[in-house]
Amino acid sequence: MSSVFGKLFTVSSWGESHGKAVGVVVDGCPAGLPLCADDIQIYLDRRRPGQNALVTPRMESDKVEILSGVFEGKTTGTPISLLILNEDQRSHDYSDMIQWYRPGHADWTYDMKYGFRDYRGGGRSSARETAGRVAAGAIALKLLSQVCKTEILAWVSSIGNVDSSMPIKEVTREAIEASPVHCPDVRVSKKMESVVKDAKENQDSVGGILTLAIHRPPMAIGEPVFDRVEALLAMAMLSIPACKGFEIGSGFAGARMHGSEHNDPIFVEQENFHTRTNNAGGVLGGISNGEDILCRVAFKPTATISRPQETVSRDGEKGTLVAKGRHDPCVAVRAPVVVESMAALVLADLFLQQRARIDLF
Ligand SMILES: Cc1cc2nc3c(=O)[nH]c(=O)nc-3n(C[C@H](O)[C@H](O)[C@H](O)COP(=O)(O)O)c2cc1C
Repeated sequence: MSSVFGKLFTVSSWGESHGKAVGVVVDGCPAGLPLCADDIQIYLDRRRPGQNALVTPRMESDKVEILSGVFEGKTTGTPISLLILNEDQRSHDYSDMIQWYRPGHADWTYDMKYGFRDYRGGGRSSARETAGRVAAGAIALKLLSQVCKTEILAWVSSIGNVDSSMPIKEVTREAIEASPVHCPDVRVSKKMESVVKDAKENQDSVGGILTLAIHRPPMAIGEPVFDRVEALLAMAMLSIPACKGFEIGSGFAGARMHGSEHNDPIFVEQENFHTRTNNAGGVLGGISNGEDILCRVAFKPTATISRPQETVSRDGEKGTLVAKGRHDPCVAVRAPVVVESMAALVLADLFLQQRARIDLF
């Protein structure tokens, strides 16, 4: 199983949804970075379930414990082990899923691959695993904000057919967090809230799209030809459960444009190079050019819904599943902090790789 991410700033993720705990080991973080549990807790609190009626009611305090790698408030350069206990499990809700496969979920493929699975709460395929990624991402974000003042914001820009066209420059952390669906556009947020509520009341779920904006990213990071910034960001985002699409810059819309329209004109200001537009999304040739890195990340509707659905048992018996358990009616609503964390992990790793180059000239 591939549970390790990164080359120099590495994250090993472990744990199951209804096991004792989930967590990560972060290795390669430079020594001397000021770090305490509160730095990480802020991000975990943003991911925490049970915060309003539009997300899963599972109640987890998600308190992080730093087991190693920090001494007298600073990282020591040794592995940082982070532990988050699981508290609110109701494994009996999943008893039907021992035998019956949930359409749209990973029960079937885990069984096919391993011949055996921890079915409680989806086991390893559960998004509970992303708590560890968020904890690791908080460290990566701290590193990036110290070295480059990098700021990473992700927010919900579409739910179902409701879209926000709020200009990226106007989006603030405060406005994102003030919205129960993490959409900073107040008027659109209200519409999105009713779409999610309707889906929940109809025992259904709904998909959504996130916008990711990375302000002041480290310059000249990205390792051609395979570890391009956009290639690693795509991999990072598509590794998040339920993520089904990734675009950078103009993305798929660029395929409908002409070069004269798509190319971003370059100019110089106070000896710094900039582009007038940003169709490239801040990356050229796989290397960051210093402009904002702009992406869109699509999430499918939650698989587990309580409507009767056609399925089969492990033994191939035909049947109908009415899923129990507590679930997010819209995965996208809880995904922003996970998307920000995965972006931070990619950037911190590429930043260290760029620093590792010996510049001979
Ligand atoms: C933050 C977050 C919360 C999620 N919550 C749920 C949930 O409550 N119920 C569910 O069935 N899937 C949920 N998912 C998605 C499943 O974990 C995912 O669909 C499943 O592992 C199958 O993987 P796939 O959709 O990538 O194929 C969530 C995903 C994320 C990122």
